[in-house]
Amino acid sequence: MLKKKVAVITGGSRGIGKEICKKFAENGADIALIYAGNVEKAEEVVSSLLQYKVKSKAYRCNIADFEETTKTFSQILKDFLTIDILVNNAGITRDRLVLSLTEKDFNDVIDVNLKGVYHTIKQVYPVFMKKRSGKIINLSSVSGLIGNPGQANYSASKAGVIGITKSVAKELASRGVCCNAIAPGFIKTDMTENFINNKTIIESIPAKRAGFPEEVAELALFLASEKSNYITGEVIRIDGGLAM
Ligand code: NAI
Repeated sequence: MLKKKVAVITGGSRGIGKEICKKFAENGADIALIYAGNVEKAEEVVSSLLQYKVKSKAYRCNIADFEETTKTFSQILKDFLTIDILVNNAGITRDRLVLSLTEKDFNDVIDVNLKGVYHTIKQVYPVFMKKRSGKIINLSSVSGLIGNPGQANYSASKAGVIGITKSVAKELASRGVCCNAIAPGFIKTDMTENFINNKTIIESIPAKRAGFPEEVAELALFLASEKSNYITGEVIRIDGGLAM
C-alpha cells in the first residue's frame, strides 16, 4: 500500500510510534524513525524492520528544538532523497492539577507536543508543495477534544495540534497534500502503564477496554495511503466511544 514511499515517524522507538513504523514497513514504506534518547530501543525497531526488505534508519533528535529538527530532516532528505509521509507521533505528559502545575511542566509539554509538530511540518512543507502530494498525520488526543483534569498542559497542546492540522490542511489541500489528526483515547503503552488497568477508567469507556497501538497504526496506515486522498483536516477519534 505504501511501496516506494518514504515515511518519517517521530517517537518511533516505542508505543504507538513503534507500531506505526512496523505497519508502514510491512506495507512497503521506507522508514526514517526519530527518537528522543533510547538508542538501543530505536535500533531494535530498525532491526525488526529488516524482514520487510525496506530501508530504515534511526535519527536521534529532540523535536522541541527547531535547529536540531532542521538538521535532522536535511540529513533524512540526503539519506532517503525525499519524504512522502510525516507522522507526528512523539509526545510527552507532565500531569498535575493546575494548582501545582509549574511553568516548566506547561512549557515542556507545549514545546514537544505542539511546537514539535510545527517544527517538523515546517521541514516537509516545501517538499510536499513541490511534489504536489504528501500526507501529514498528527497524533492529538481525546484530551484535546474534551479536556481532562490534571492535563491542562497536555490538553492545550493536543487541542493546538487540531488547530495546526486544520490550518495546514487548508493551506495545502489545493496542492494535493492531506493533513489529518488522530485522537486516541486510552491506548496500552508505556505512557499509560500507571493507570491503564484502573477499573474506573475501563468502566468509563463504552467499549469497556483500552485500545492497542496496532489499532492506531491501522488508522495511520489508512490516512497515509491513497485510499484517503479526499480526507483532509479531519480529526478521527479512536477511543472505544469515550469522547462521543
Ligand atoms: P510513549 O511515551 O510510549 O512514546 C512517546 C515517544 O515519543 C517515545 O518514542 C519518545 O522517545 C518520543 N519523544 C518524546 N519526546 C520527544 C522529543 N522531544 N523528541 C523526539 N521524540 C520524543 O507514548 P505513546 O503512548 O506511544 O503515545 C504516542 C502519541 O500518542 C503521543 O503523542 C501521545 O500524546 C498520543 N496519545 C497517546 C495515548 C495513549 O493512551 N497512549 C492517548 C492519546 C494520545
